[in-house]
Amino acid sequence: MNPPMNRRENEEKMAWLRAEIRRHDDLYFRRAEPEISDREYDRLKRELADLESRHPDFVPEDTPTRQVGDDRQEAFATYRHRQPMQSLDNTYSEEELREFFHRLVRLFDREDLDFVVEPKIDGVAVCLTFEKGKLVRAATRGNGFEGDDITRNVKTIRDLPHRLAGDRHPDVVEIRGEIFMTNDAFQRINREREEDGLPPYANPRNLTAGTVKLLDPKEVSRRRLRLVLHGLGHCEPRFFDRLSAFHETLGRWKLPRVERYRVARGIDEVWSAVQELDRLRHDFAYATDGAVVKLDSIARQEEAGSTSKAPRWAIAYKFSAEQAETVVASIALQVGRTGALTPVAHLEPVQLAGTTVSRATLHNKDEIQRKDVRVNDTVIVEKAGDIIPAVVEVVLAKRPPGSEPYRFPEACPVCRSEVIRLPGEAAVRCPNLSCPAQVRRRLRHFASRPCMDIEGLGEAVVDQLVERGLVERITDLYDLTPDQLVQLDKFAEKASQNLVGAIDRSRDRELWRLIHGLGIQHIGLAASKDLAAAFGDLDRLAEATEEELAAIDGIGEITARSIAAYFSEERNRELVRALREHGVRTRDEGAAARREGRLSGKVFVLTGALPALTRQQATEWIEVAGGRVSSSVSKKTDYVLAGEEAGSKLDKARKLGVRVIDETAFRALLER
Ligand code: IVH
Repeated sequence: MNPPMNRRENEEKMAWLRAEIRRHDDLYFRRAEPEISDREYDRLKRELADLESRHPDFVPEDTPTRQVGDDRQEAFATYRHRQPMQSLDNTYSEEELREFFHRLVRLFDREDLDFVVEPKIDGVAVCLTFEKGKLVRAATRGNGFEGDDITRNVKTIRDLPHRLAGDRHPDVVEIRGEIFMTNDAFQRINREREEDGLPPYANPRNLTAGTVKLLDPKEVSRRRLRLVLHGLGHCEPRFFDRLSAFHETLGRWKLPRVERYRVARGIDEVWSAVQELDRLRHDFAYATDGAVVKLDSIARQEEAGSTSKAPRWAIAYKFSAEQAETVVASIALQVGRTGALTPVAHLEPVQLAGTTVSRATLHNKDEIQRKDVRVNDTVIVEKAGDIIPAVVEVVLAKRPPGSEPYRFPEACPVCRSEVIRLPGEAAVRCPNLSCPAQVRRRLRHFASRPCMDIEGLGEAVVDQLVERGLVERITDLYDLTPDQLVQLDKFAEKASQNLVGAIDRSRDRELWRLIHGLGIQHIGLAASKDLAAAFGDLDRLAEATEEELAAIDGIGEITARSIAAYFSEERNRELVRALREHGVRTRDEGAAARREGRLSGKVFVLTGALPALTRQQATEWIEVAGGRVSSSVSKKTDYVLAGEEAGSKLDKARKLGVRVIDETAFRALLER
C-alpha cells in the first residue's frame, strides 16, 4: 500500500498526470507515434480521473479527462462536424459494464432495454458526409468539433462508393466509421520501407493515421486503406429510429459495415454477445480491441444524452490484451541517433500472442520510476495490438528480498559522458556527439537512401568503421581510402573501390539530402526539402534565426527552434565548413539562381486540373521563375493556382484570403 498523500503531493501528481496525458495525446493523435499501449494510456487517465473526483477543487477546465484528443494539422482545411464526434467511456470489467446497464435501467425505469453490440475497431476515426446520396466530405475527428478535411484521400478507398446505392436517401447524413489497414498491406509497406533503408512502422493503426494525412492521394491510394462504418451523426430529415435499422440500411446503401452486430435485450444477453465477439474477432479484417454496447433506440439515446466527452448511452468494453508473466533479467539502455537513452528490459523468454518475447520497452526514466521496475522483478508484459511489447506492472508479491530500485545511470553506458535532461523532454540524453553509439546511428542515417544514399554503406560496414576508429565524424567518410577498407571483414579490393566510389558520388547529392542527412532533431524529409528550397545554401541555413526559420512554409516553431539550436553549436558549424572543404556540395545552385526570377520568393499551391498545363509543367514554370510550390495552403501562401474540381485547398485559400488565380492569370503573371 502506498502511504496516504498530502494535498500538495496530490496536486503535483495530478499536474504530472495531466502533462503526461497531453504528451501521449500529442504522440498518438498528431504524430501517430505512441509510446505506450492504449491500455497503459487508459490507466493514466483513470488514475487522473480518480484523483480528480477526490479533489474536485483542483480540477482545471481544460483537463484531459474532459476532452478528446486533437489530430488536426495545419496543412488541411477544417471541417466543422454538424454533430460533435464524441469519445467513448471505456471499461475493462464486467462489473462496470453491468453498472452502465443499471444506470440506464434506472433512467428509463425498465429492464428490457435493447442494445446493439458491435466490435470496437482499432482504426482511425472518420466522418463521411453524404448529401442527397453523394459523398461530399470526409473529415477526421480533430478535436471532436472540427476535423481535418481528408476527402481526397478517403476517396481513394476502394470499399467506399461515392454514391449511395438505392434511391431513398436523407438530404444530409453524417456517417462515422474507422479507416484501417489489413495486416497484409501493413507488412507489404513495411517490407518496402526496409528495402529503402527506412525504419518500419510500429503497427497498422499508426501507419493508417499517418496515411490519411498524406498530401499526395496517389500515395494514399497505393497503401490500400479500408473502411468500416458504425455510427450515425447528424441526419436530415430524421431517418432512423433504431441503430440496428441504421446498420441494416448501411448494407442496402452498399456501404462497408461491421461484420457482426447483434441486438441484445438485457445485460445477460449483452454480456454473452460481448464474449461471443471476443471469440470471433480474430477472423475480422481489422484489429479490434473491444466491443461497443449501444442503446438501440435512437429516441432513448437522445434522452440519455451525453457528458462533455462521451455519450451516456454507449460504452466500450475493452478485451484484455494478451499478457504474460516473466522475470526481468537485466535492464539495458539503447542510445539513439540524437543521444536519447531508451531503457529496455531484457526478459526471460516467454510466449506471448504467438511470439517469443525476450525484450520489452520501459519507455523512459519517468516510466521506470513510476512502475518501479527492478532487475529480478517478476513483471507482467503485454502486447496490445502493438509490435513492441511493454512492461505493464511489477508483481510486487514476487519481488525478491533485498532488491534495489533501478538507478537510472548518470553516465552514458557507451561513452560514460554525464547524461542530461532538457526541460520539457521525457528523454534523458547523452550529450556527447562523439559517443560511438550516436556516431554509428548518425552515420547510418547519413548514408541511408532518403539521405545521401551511399550504396554499400550499410549497418555492418558502419559498425566496423566506427569500431576500428576509421570514422568518427561524417566527413571522415570522405577521407577513406580503398586500402583502409580492405581491412574490414568480407571486404575485397573490388568492394573497397566500389564503396569509395559511392562515397565520392555522394558529394554531389541534392542539398535536401544533405540537410536530411545531418539528422537534426524533428527534421524529416519534407522539412529538409522545404529548407533546401527556401535557402538553397547550407551556410545560409546555418545563419538563419529562429524567426526566419519559422516564417518558412512548412516549418513550425518546434522545428525552427531545433534547427537554430543545432547550428548554434560550434561543432555543427564546423561540420558544415568541413563538408564543404571535403568537396560536398552545400549549395543548390539551381535553387539559388531560380530565386532571382520573376516569381522570386513566391509560394504557390496547385489544386484541381488546369486546362492546358500538367501539374508538373506548372511546377517547373514556377520553379524556373524562382517561385516555389508547396503542398498546403497557409497564410504564407502567395497564390493558389486553381483548376477544375479544385478541392479543399481552394476553400482554405478563400478562408485565409489567399489570392486564387486560374491558368490564364498564371500565364499573365509569368509574362509580366
Ligand atoms: S461509437 C458517440 N462504435 O472508438 C459514439 N466508436 O474510443 C462514439 N470506435 O471515437 C463512437 N469502433 O472512433 C463507436 N463500433 C464502434 C467503434 C467506435 C471504434 C472508435 C471511435 C470512437 C472511439 C472511442
